[in-house]
Amino acid sequence: MSSDVLSLNQNVWDSDPELFELIQKEKKRQLHGLEMIASENFTSLPVLQCLSSCLHNKYSEGLPGQRYYGGNEFIDEIELLCQKRALELYRLDPAEWGVNVQPYSGSPANLAVYTAIVEPHGRIMGLDLPDGGHLTHGFMTATKKISATSIFFESMPYKVDPNTGLINYDNLAQSAKLFKPKLIIAGISCYSRCLDYKRFREIADENGAYLFSDMAHVSGLVAAGIIPSPFEYSDIVSTTTHKTLRGPRAAMIFFRKGVRSVNKAGEKVVYDLENKINQAVFPGLQGGPHNNAIAGIATALRQAMTPEFRNYQEQVVSNAQRLCDGLQKCGYKVVTGGTDVHLVLVDLRSAGITGARAEKILEDISIACNKNTVPGDKSALNPSGIRLGTPALTTRGLKEQDIDKVVEFIHRGLQLSKMVTKVSGPKLVDFKRVLKEDDTFLQKVNQLRKEVDAFSQTFPLPGYPDY
Ligand SMILES: Cc1ncc(COP(=O)(O)O)c(C=O)c1O
Repeated sequence: MSSDVLSLNQNVWDSDPELFELIQKEKKRQLHGLEMIASENFTSLPVLQCLSSCLHNKYSEGLPGQRYYGGNEFIDEIELLCQKRALELYRLDPAEWGVNVQPYSGSPANLAVYTAIVEPHGRIMGLDLPDGGHLTHGFMTATKKISATSIFFESMPYKVDPNTGLINYDNLAQSAKLFKPKLIIAGISCYSRCLDYKRFREIADENGAYLFSDMAHVSGLVAAGIIPSPFEYSDIVSTTTHKTLRGPRAAMIFFRKGVRSVNKAGEKVVYDLENKINQAVFPGLQGGPHNNAIAGIATALRQAMTPEFRNYQEQVVSNAQRLCDGLQKCGYKVVTGGTDVHLVLVDLRSAGITGARAEKILEDISIACNKNTVPGDKSALNPSGIRLGTPALTTRGLKEQDIDKVVEFIHRGLQLSKMVTKVSGPKLVDFKRVLKEDDTFLQKVNQLRKEVDAFSQTFPLPGYPDY
């Protein structure tokens, strides 16, 4: 064999030890820490095997049976299998629903939906980012259009009630009447309650708008049938596949087929979403599909049909509720007063801690979470809360009693952050400096991190053992 072929067949640990060491460090970080970022999960070994398979090598622009390249007979079968499983998992009739499994990830999927359905500078309405929506739901600020979805489309946000933290559907209805959107988005990145899809549908109907549900965060819970499904009321549904669904980093778009409505003359008006959405994905926005990811989705969907997956999702919610109860018992305020899903939004204002400090100290003790705005926050740059999720911890096997321990770690970390603030004063740079330089605090942080590491290591990670 030539040396070229040899190096092509070397393991990464032999061919590129410098990179491999970094991969191993990341693996160690994942194993030693508590992953509480609500949008993350640990995918399974079969999904990782699909991702690193030969499917990665193949170009297959187009859809099954209509490709721009040859050699796609097996790729076609894989994509069709994935589509079939996607419809089966969400209990959808193929006469009424179709699915595109090619989007590279959630953001391109959402842009494809708007590109397909809404004309340039047409109007969309989504939950505001600081209120729990996603960037791709049209986010912009007073001074800047941040997301492409607000640059190429005109977006108007709807909000949560600052007192209850719950979506203000009445205000949405009023704004929609004035703004007349072409499409309303029902979807969240940080909202701990189930959405009222029926109400969304009514508001969409009052304005002749499409209802587009982005169930990225909750698609695993929906698949398991433990929270209301958006499909009954939506025209289009998108989801990432790597969050609660626990598949590869990718996305899917479901679209309705068949009769949309009956007009005044009694004639049936049929949906024309299928071609528009398929063409927006390719050739509109993407090129060749990531076939390794599509295979990963297919195998994750198969897993999601099992009783074990349903048990997992139930445990995710029980763990989130236990986390919520535990934090409330420690005196923390939880936005909306509880959770129905996989995440908890903690309002730290009454505890006298900022979101950034909480995130920083928790990171230092190996607990990963993210700072987040809470209803009523004045500045999105200095948010007052943290978002905590349980999907990843639950994948590692944590149960309610383990969550009690996690609450204790978080509480101790947050108390420590208050002590540091007393010394550092209000500025975040000073807070970070004191944390880095003050020996007493350094010792306390190290001690707590050791405890978290020791606890965390007792829970296995799925995937390859070493990388
Ligand atoms: C509701 C929602 N939609 C879309 C996305 C975008 O997904 P991605 O990060 O895969 O582009 C996210 C990501 O967090 C999300 O929470």
